[in-house]
Amino acid sequence: RQLKHYLCLSDFEQKAKRHLPHPLFAYVSGASETNASLRYNTEDFDAYAFKPRVLRDVSQRSTETTLFGETFSAPFGIAPMGISALMAYRGDIVLAEGAGRARIPMIMSGSSLIRLEDVISVSPQSWFQAYLPGEPDRIDALIQRVQKAGFQTMVLTVDTAALANRENNIRAGFSTPLRPSAGLLWEGITHPRWTIGTFLRTLVLHGIPHFENSYATRGAPIISSNVLRNFGRKDHLNWTHLERIRQRWPGKLIVKGVMHPEDAARAHSAGVDGLIVSNHGGRQLDGTMSPLSALPEIVDQVGGKTTVMVDGGFRRGTDVIKALALGARFVFVGRPFLYAAALAGLPGVLKAADILKTELHRNMALLGLTTIDEITGACIVRRRPA
Ligand code: FNR
Repeated sequence: RQLKHYLCLSDFEQKAKRHLPHPLFAYVSGASETNASLRYNTEDFDAYAFKPRVLRDVSQRSTETTLFGETFSAPFGIAPMGISALMAYRGDIVLAEGAGRARIPMIMSGSSLIRLEDVISVSPQSWFQAYLPGEPDRIDALIQRVQKAGFQTMVLTVDTAALANRENNIRAGFSTPLRPSAGLLWEGITHPRWTIGTFLRTLVLHGIPHFENSYATRGAPIISSNVLRNFGRKDHLNWTHLERIRQRWPGKLIVKGVMHPEDAARAHSAGVDGLIVSNHGGRQLDGTMSPLSALPEIVDQVGGKTTVMVDGGFRRGTDVIKALALGARFVFVGRPFLYAAALAGLPGVLKAADILKTELHRNMALLGLTTIDEITGACIVRRRPA
């Protein structure tokens, strides 16, 4: 249907801008302070160009990729995004289900508005992203809950030692909790599809959304109570906690938000199964280098020993290939999938996955490659001096 109008992942952002109330769109699309990192994340792909091979019979090619012993249909998955259910009706469930059907991994956010047990019951292969405090009792309690629910992979996000300065949110009238105001009411009236299809439908069928999973905010409603009061105390989380988590969590453990090669080495020594090089989509420390530009040194340091993944700004098949050529094993994509879920629910998520997969498949032919493993440093050159 209208899905045929989405030609590339960025088209979802364009359309979501009209579909979502302004404060919500600003929350998803924005980053922190001057948005410098958000810009680097997309700009830095231009630092590399391709060196294609020809006449290689690429008729039998596949984007399938094996990660942690599991075969996925493509080398990308869905990054964790908090409060998704405010943008898309049952957002986390829609993303998880879409990922399951598209045979790609989906990481559900610890700051979600849907119980982790409900997400995994729909989509048993989902991964769980945890925000953990530096408090052993709370760490143990969350680990037990996530394990009992049946998750096999936990992603610990470590780039949030303090809440970021999201001025954009304040300017756009976004806050958690959402404070009812005349402005917000007007946004609701002027975005009726979202208001009826997501907001009112959620209220009627499931009540006021609450934070359901994170250690500090659990039970806090998204509207009219001070969620952020005790949200922030992660500033004492340290390597000892990571080692403790490693001892208690029997499943796969991935650390998300590593940008320095020495931290990558340290995470590897702590026994993690992999790491996601990420600057949180430019939403934490403004001016942080792009994950793509951090990759080469990190791969040098730990690439042979652990699974290096990456996220931030990936919108094209060519972006994915550049990261794999630099040594990443897997890529995660955030915002476009949330827009797709908000705009068109499950079919939207499937469409977004299909667009990226189709681009990859085509790009592989044009590069002269038939398998994902053939993507190596030989495919690219640096365009600009390093
Ligand atoms: C995020 N991100 C994020 N990361 C995380 O570990 N836990 C979370 O709860 C969230 N929440 C969140 C909400 C929203 C609206 C966005 C856009 C992002 C960061 C996310 O996982 C990922 O690192 C980036 O979004 C990747 O960049 P792109 O693909 O969005 O450019």
